[in-house]
Amino acid sequence: MSCWAVIVAAGRGERAGLGQNKVFYKVDGRSVLGRCLDAFQNCGRFDGAALVLSEADEAAWQALSAREGPFPLVKAVARGGATRRDSVYSGLLALPEDAELVAIHDAARPFVSDAVIDATLESARRFGSGVISTAVVDTIKQLGADGRVMSLDRDTLRAVQTPQTFHYQKILEAHRRARAEELAVTDDAMLFEHYYGNVRLVTAPGAEENRKLTTKADFDALNAVPDVRVGQGYDVHRLVEGRRLILCGVDISWEKGLDGHSDADVAVHALMDALLGALGLGDIGHLFPDTDPAYEGADSMKLLDAVMERVREKGYRVGNADVTIVAQRPKLAPYIEQMKNNLAAGLGVSAERVNVKATTTERLGFEGEGLGISAQAVALLMK
Ligand code: CTP
Ligand code: MG
Repeated sequence: MSCWAVIVAAGRGERAGLGQNKVFYKVDGRSVLGRCLDAFQNCGRFDGAALVLSEADEAAWQALSAREGPFPLVKAVARGGATRRDSVYSGLLALPEDAELVAIHDAARPFVSDAVIDATLESARRFGSGVISTAVVDTIKQLGADGRVMSLDRDTLRAVQTPQTFHYQKILEAHRRARAEELAVTDDAMLFEHYYGNVRLVTAPGAEENRKLTTKADFDALNAVPDVRVGQGYDVHRLVEGRRLILCGVDISWEKGLDGHSDADVAVHALMDALLGALGLGDIGHLFPDTDPAYEGADSMKLLDAVMERVREKGYRVGNADVTIVAQRPKLAPYIEQMKNNLAAGLGVSAERVNVKATTTERLGFEGEGLGISAQAVALLMK
């Protein structure tokens, strides 16, 4: 069957408040309209499309074609009208008479998937119409004229989008009649229902993402830079006799231990500094001063809990953390798994987001000579 598309882009995009028709706005380097045309072109189902534009956007379209085109799918450019219904009609008139199916689509829905397009085409081929729809997530209330609120059963409700696909001659005829009768409709499905009694709703993978870009907030959300922060930490403790050796909360039996005011868990200290660094909150010396007797012999895993409280207070969670322990001896490999699990529990993430590694320095430097142990850490925080 010969399949055509009508892509309507002749609105003004007033609610988006971008100072231009929103479909010319670039999202991640490519315009909304360009993305929409790509989707219809690349799905390979269409013989061609009529693009509906307002006269005011003619120059913008020329510039867009030069920059992002060519768009071989676009076989005709039609002039838009005062209402969306007028614009659709204008697009329908621009299609060849032997067109059999027509998918009508808002240019303001650039994330339309192949599956969504196909589902509407398939339904229209079999039943004469196919309108993409999704289940409703919010409970919807109907407001009566007298101010009474009526609750609607959510399971019976569907939100409809575009593409809305029909037998070409049937939807064209419906539009002709609607014009003659000045029937006000908000979409083509409503018009089809009005003249033919019913319309087929379909759903498909990708329908949830097929949202219409309408408000300023819709565009802000697309352009928002993800709020991620990285921090780095470094710490050193001296190895002495008569102290326990605790690394990442694991008590390691060894002839020496790390000296310090707290339990001197050098790895956890580096990790805490990485977290505080990411938050821009200085370092652990600042937070837990070693002049404060409260921290004498303190369990560093408990201090980590306090740091994580700061992380959460600021609205972040841990993306991942990577810790390197530099020690000539003892051999740390047997403890790595337990270390990872301890840190993951402390950070409130699964173990696969935590990495702990140990290295020697080929007997070079203070770590190599067994005088001390150092640790480095990086941590990524996400809002
Ligand atoms: N549209 C059209 N002709 C009109 C009005 C709308 O072709 N007279 C198109 C828009 O370009 C858009 C789609 O219909 O792709 C859906 O309309 P909407 O989201 O309301 O877009 P705008 O009318 O441009 O936006 P606004 O209502 O905020 O001004
Ligand atoms: Mg509008």
